[in-house]
Amino acid sequence: CGIVGYIGEKNTTKVLLDGLKELEYRGYDSAGIALLNAKGIDVYKALGKLENLKQKTKDVLQKEFTLGIGHTRWATHGKPTELNAHPHLGEYSYVVHNGIIENYKELKDELIEQGHKFVSQTDTEVIVHLFENINNKINDSKQAFKDTISKLKGAFSILLVSKAAPEKIFFFKHGSPLIIAKGNEQKEILFSSSDAPLIGLCKEVVYLEDEVGGIASADGIEFFSNNYTWSTLPESKQYAQKDGFRFFMEKEIYEQSDVVSDCMLGRVNDNTTSFDEIDDSILEGINEIKICACGTSYHAGITSSYLFERLSKIKCNVEIASEFRYKQPLLTKDTLFIVISQSGETADTLEVLKMAKNAGLKTLVICNVDNSSMTRLADYTILTRAGIEKGVASTKAFSTQTVVLWMLALYFANIKNSICEDTMQKELTALREVPKALTIDDKIHEKTRRLSKRYLHGHGFFFIGRDVFYPLALEGALKLKEISYLHAEGYPSGEMKHGPIALADPELFTIALMPENLLYEKVKSNVEELSARDSTICSISPLDFELSDDFIKIKKTNHYMLEFFEMLVVLQLLSMEISIRLGNDVDMPRNLAKSVTVE
Ligand code: G6P
Repeated sequence: CGIVGYIGEKNTTKVLLDGLKELEYRGYDSAGIALLNAKGIDVYKALGKLENLKQKTKDVLQKEFTLGIGHTRWATHGKPTELNAHPHLGEYSYVVHNGIIENYKELKDELIEQGHKFVSQTDTEVIVHLFENINNKINDSKQAFKDTISKLKGAFSILLVSKAAPEKIFFFKHGSPLIIAKGNEQKEILFSSSDAPLIGLCKEVVYLEDEVGGIASADGIEFFSNNYTWSTLPESKQYAQKDGFRFFMEKEIYEQSDVVSDCMLGRVNDNTTSFDEIDDSILEGINEIKICACGTSYHAGITSSYLFERLSKIKCNVEIASEFRYKQPLLTKDTLFIVISQSGETADTLEVLKMAKNAGLKTLVICNVDNSSMTRLADYTILTRAGIEKGVASTKAFSTQTVVLWMLALYFANIKNSICEDTMQKELTALREVPKALTIDDKIHEKTRRLSKRYLHGHGFFFIGRDVFYPLALEGALKLKEISYLHAEGYPSGEMKHGPIALADPELFTIALMPENLLYEKVKSNVEELSARDSTICSISPLDFELSDDFIKIKKTNHYMLEFFEMLVVLQLLSMEISIRLGNDVDMPRNLAKSVTVE
């Protein structure tokens, strides 16, 4: 979900709608705004994309308001309906909220008993009723807000406005991200759950820490505690444009070559790799690596586990964060705990990072967003430098994460002296070639476009590969699922014969990842087994493979990781072209959110 808030002389409605536009990628089941002036509070909500809310508020643009709050929702409790959209109303106050109130049922029951009427199925609505319940008794809005906060359990970043204090926005951060900013104009204050909507409108911001809250008005900001610091916001807004591409996802696929170059800048040297952010002491006392992440970041993690063992000779295993957090894991201090996250906000990943920290482990985050919750928490951060990623289906975040992890594996290999100089040189040469491998050949893009026609139906897709091409297969299948809504699975190719091969028939599409430089013969025989059972095969390889029905030929290289990146681009383009042909919204696939800040 995304939150915005505004106090100032500009057109409040427009500022809020513009801000929500920047946040729309975080959730778009519904959106809403609440606007205040001396006459009262006006509220507008609309189901679906922000455009619907814009249509509804066309005439409102003329009206003057002194302040307002807005929200774009990704449903957790309660279906995406207009009633469930934020802002939520009590008798005279409105609230917008990111996170989940875990004890909302108990609170709701108590409030209903005391006569409060609820209209939505959301957890959020209890906040505003609780506030009014207390305020009605003590007639002190500041104290009522503080008392409300003290009764909530779970994750909640909130903005609250009330007729009881019509010039104020009450704010509090716990769990989900929230930023407060001083606008460029006099007496202007802005709120947002991420910095994108703030760029160009303000320079000074506070990335609120957990448990920090306060009250903002045109007269200034009153913080409830001293636990905050002002910092400066970057000025560039370039990322916001699609540069002529049809979708952000397409732009981001094409950007990969450049962002990977940025990611490697100053990190690949003559004889090793290095990072300003860490030094050799990071491996002191470390015998193994544990990686936790979600979604695409998890796939980057699995890929790297092959590299950490093969190159750095350090035991490495990878787990899905939401699984890890409840398994009562054994955390030992000889483990380097790595989390990988594009956003740095994913709730499950953040939680496992907290667990590792509390257990006294050394923690490292590989992240794309500086100043995110994870970078602020981890002992060490390595930034992926991919720039803001807007497409919900992650692309450039994955390629930069994988490159960072490969560089890290080589850095550890150097510290541990675990590979010979010759191998190190081969690895470094290959690394330098990654930006080239990620450059897109028009013919390949065209080929994926043509092939997309044939892959719109069938009863499913299997993406298969071995070694690092297994997590790549998982990622290829995830991309397709996310934006085409077709059923796809990633599988280790050697495992097909232990079950999935039973599905093989002409309507089963197999996308076979067949690198020349790694286990080619092994994968080939696995694909032959599927071909013999009439599965439709599309192979991606630098080598011709006569048994495949379709063939996407990638460049010949001398390192399997270069083949990895060549194939990655093919998989991304293929899923995008299929999605476009199906008429889907590539950048905002149904039911998904870019940043999942709830459990
Ligand atoms: C969401 C996104 C995925 C992403 C995952 C992890 O589910 O839709 O694209 O891979 O979260 O996000 P993170 O920001 O932690 O990498």
